[in-house]
Amino acid sequence: MNGLFITIEGPDGAGKSTLVKKLQTAVAAETKRPLVITREPGGSEIAEEIRDIILNPLHTKMDARTEALLLAAGRRQHVVEKIRPALERGEIVLCDRFVDSSVAYQGQGRGIGMDKVIAINAFAVEDLKPDITLYLDIASDEGLKRIKSKHSNRKQDRLELEEITFHEKVREGYEQLIEEDPNRFSRIDASQVPAKVFEDAWAILKPRLK
Ligand code: TYD
Repeated sequence: MNGLFITIEGPDGAGKSTLVKKLQTAVAAETKRPLVITREPGGSEIAEEIRDIILNPLHTKMDARTEALLLAAGRRQHVVEKIRPALERGEIVLCDRFVDSSVAYQGQGRGIGMDKVIAINAFAVEDLKPDITLYLDIASDEGLKRIKSKHSNRKQDRLELEEITFHEKVREGYEQLIEEDPNRFSRIDASQVPAKVFEDAWAILKPRLK
């Protein structure tokens, strides 16, 4: 595959969507290569329907493994329908969350075990792996504070409603992933102003677009 697969990861409230928008503009100005912007959970019609089931705050009965399996199922559909074909065409794919989110949130946060979640995701995505992962690093309490102010006029989703201890475990999960694969991850300090977060991200991505 000739494409470039970039993922953005981080705890809730790290500012991923703001960064994605800025990167979209910058990539378009820098290169003529087509860019696919997408996200998880979701990213394709079927996967977006699965997303609604996963994030519905009324689904308080959802079992942790059910949640992990639904995420992996949606991811499978997203990879097959959208990500893989774009990479095969040589395009750049920028995806807001991917397998690492499941390993951190379900594996560590929910306590299923990172290895188990890695295994079901290997079934879902086969050998697909991001080329570059930007990790937006923010303290859990800071991230949650941002979400509460950002979503003050809309309902928080089922995962955002979790206690701070859950979000701290998620962050630990990410830390382990970074330790195991330091070449793929680039850590960005997401407590900075959005312009600076973008500047740091762009310094990493720009040289890789050629
Ligand atoms: P996201 O769409 O990034 O949140 P937002 O709507 O605030 O931009 O993700 C929704 C939630 O789903 C978020 O709390 C992280 C969680 N999530 C998992 O638990 N596992 C996963 O594999 C993914 C992709 C997301």
